[in-house]
Amino acid sequence: MNIQEIIAKKRDNLELNKEEIEYFVTNYTNGNIADYQAAALVMAIYINGMNKQETTNLTLSMAHSGDILDLSELGTVVDKHSTGGIGDKITLILAPIIASFNIPVAKMSGRGLGYTGGTIDKLEAIPGYKTNLTIEEFIQNVKKNGISVIGQTLNLAPADKKLYALRDVISATESIPLISSSIMSKKIAAGASKIVLDVTCGNGAFMKNLKDAENLAKMMKNIGDLAHKETVCVITNMNEPLGKAVGNSLEVIESVKFLKGEMSEDVKEVILELGSYMIKLAGKGANIEENKQKILENIKNGMAFEKFKTWVSSQGGDVSFLEDTQKFKKAKYILPVLAQKSGYVTSLNAQKVGEISMNLGAGRIQKEDTILPEVGIILEKKTGAKVQKGEILAYIHANNESLANEQAQKLQNVYEIQEHKLETKKNILEIIA
Ligand code: URA
Repeated sequence: MNIQEIIAKKRDNLELNKEEIEYFVTNYTNGNIADYQAAALVMAIYINGMNKQETTNLTLSMAHSGDILDLSELGTVVDKHSTGGIGDKITLILAPIIASFNIPVAKMSGRGLGYTGGTIDKLEAIPGYKTNLTIEEFIQNVKKNGISVIGQTLNLAPADKKLYALRDVISATESIPLISSSIMSKKIAAGASKIVLDVTCGNGAFMKNLKDAENLAKMMKNIGDLAHKETVCVITNMNEPLGKAVGNSLEVIESVKFLKGEMSEDVKEVILELGSYMIKLAGKGANIEENKQKILENIKNGMAFEKFKTWVSSQGGDVSFLEDTQKFKKAKYILPVLAQKSGYVTSLNAQKVGEISMNLGAGRIQKEDTILPEVGIILEKKTGAKVQKGEILAYIHANNESLANEQAQKLQNVYEIQEHKLETKKNILEIIA
């Protein structure tokens, strides 16, 4: 067997067998297959796709490319993962909510790439927060406090780390077999017993329409079931950013506000839906509507916010920033973006907002770029809002004046304002359970 033959097979749209897939994953992870050969195969997979069997084999090979955590001593660990989005601060809010029900949260999260944000960059906006714990510290934290969230620093699914970085630079991200294997290999390696997936759908997501999102969800659920990890997929709307804040410390501040009861409607709906299924899978409540009420109760009685502080402090984060969010460093320039006409906001393209946020320094254009935690966007008006000409639509938070002006202009153009209101958008599009 050699890599040229494997590339040629997929190039010619033939099915790869288990041994061929394993050969590729093992030898690429070890450095025996060059990036240019892996790039050729990945692009052939992107173009010609993979069937269920091939995707499952790819996932399992990637999961076994490194260590597999055994978290069985912690009880039923329910993991959650999103396929990516803009303003997606769900993990920051949901992890402590779930832990407040004594359901262990042991989660490995990623950094942002391209126009989508990443939980680890957001957590690092909290001064002192350590994302690179050892396995022992990670498990110890979950045992002691019921929660720990770390970066991809352990030797878990190293094949995904390499393949994800490669896909990003060769424009091979939006592919059902490649996304499914990337996410599910990490979930299997990280040792969760049950999985809830937030499959985002819309212009700010990798899946642009519902049909593709459904196919992705079904593929991941199928892999989860085969790996004996019950999996539920919630397809959510990502046609506009989630919540008000886009940018790292701005999203931490929005998360704190949420846990103190100040909730944007779209974030609330997504949190309640995902959270209720996590509670159900953990065996702590079979009724989804009742679980939603229980979540609201743990926010109201302060338990979720207390858990957030315990979690952050156990990983070295300075909790005084959560108690007084005014302590977060502010961007040098905070510029309002004004409505050019009166009417209703009918569109606020999530991908374009994500690109503006990235241009401001909240994300990386090159992989080695340094993040500026304090920059980003606050969206005062979202789709459906009635606005008057001259009213403030949003604020740009930037450290450079000319960049602030340039990006404010861009954001103004992203807002589409029409005379008539469109139908109210749905935040939860479908559940595949
Ligand atoms: N998130 C992942 O972890 N992998 C993908 O391929 C897409 C989103």
